[in-house]
Amino acid sequence: MQESTSPPGLKMIGLPGAAGVCEDGRMMKRGLHEKSSPDEIRARFDGDVERFSNLDSGQAATVDAPLAMELITRAAVASTTEIRRCLDIGCGAGNNTIRLLQAYGKGFDCDLCDLSRPMLERAAGRVAGFSDGTIRTFQGDFRTLRFDEEGYDVLLAAAVLHHLRDDEDWERAFAKMYSLLRPGGSVWVTDLVSHESRAVDSLMWETYATYLIELGGEDYQREVFDYIDKEDSPRPVTYQLELLRKAGFRNVEILHKNACFAACGAVK
Ligand SMILES: C[S@@+](CC[C@H](N)C(=O)[O-])C[C@H]1O[C@@H](n2cnc3c(N)ncnc32)[C@H](O)[C@@H]1O
Repeated sequence: MQESTSPPGLKMIGLPGAAGVCEDGRMMKRGLHEKSSPDEIRARFDGDVERFSNLDSGQAATVDAPLAMELITRAAVASTTEIRRCLDIGCGAGNNTIRLLQAYGKGFDCDLCDLSRPMLERAAGRVAGFSDGTIRTFQGDFRTLRFDEEGYDVLLAAAVLHHLRDDEDWERAFAKMYSLLRPGGSVWVTDLVSHESRAVDSLMWETYATYLIELGGEDYQREVFDYIDKEDSPRPVTYQLELLRKAGFRNVEILHKNACFAACGAVK
């Protein structure tokens, strides 16, 4: 793969095509209706518990994953006067709730929600080691599960919202998050993101491809891009900030953005 001339600090590779990007520069080839169903997503994550159970290495395929987790959990503590109960949406093996408990320095009630039963079991076991509060698990799709209205001081949604599909799905999810928070509560998101401009989107996928190739080689990069195309439908962080405001949130913040990954949040 040929390197092109690029500014210092931004090593570019010869895309598109070579790394799974369309000829016109678009990363996603599949339409929304061709993406994985919740059952398919659950089945994949059922077999991936170990990868999500390490606080330090986190998700290697995610740019700046440990930094983003630290930022959202510290922002949650800084923005929320008292944390009595938290909901971790798409909690995986519980890393983000554990980091939140560590940042807060004392226990609180933890509700953990995930499609995957093995993920939830691992998360509940791990979180119990950090909190003397009540730990409850909710297996299923966040979009259809019932939670207490205004029942939470903090919501975490880490690496999960990219599974939302059309505009209605995104708007409903953000409205639901708003309704679950107590006034003064806050929501914090880390995620894979796309971009409003096709040109910038291509640039950022190229940057991400370079990161993955350096991490694990070209076959690994293709594998990651293939499952993103199959499973994920990310939206721009700018779109998510607008949705937060539309849902009623105030103090909407971007905490971090690097290539195709961003962290943001807001206070109710
Ligand atoms: C990439 S993992 C991230 C796990 C964890 N938040 C972390 O950052 O380590 C995404 C998780 O979200 C779960 N998930 C995906 N869509 C979901 C949905 N609609 N409702 C609940 N959980 C979902 C998956 O089962 C998976 O465990």
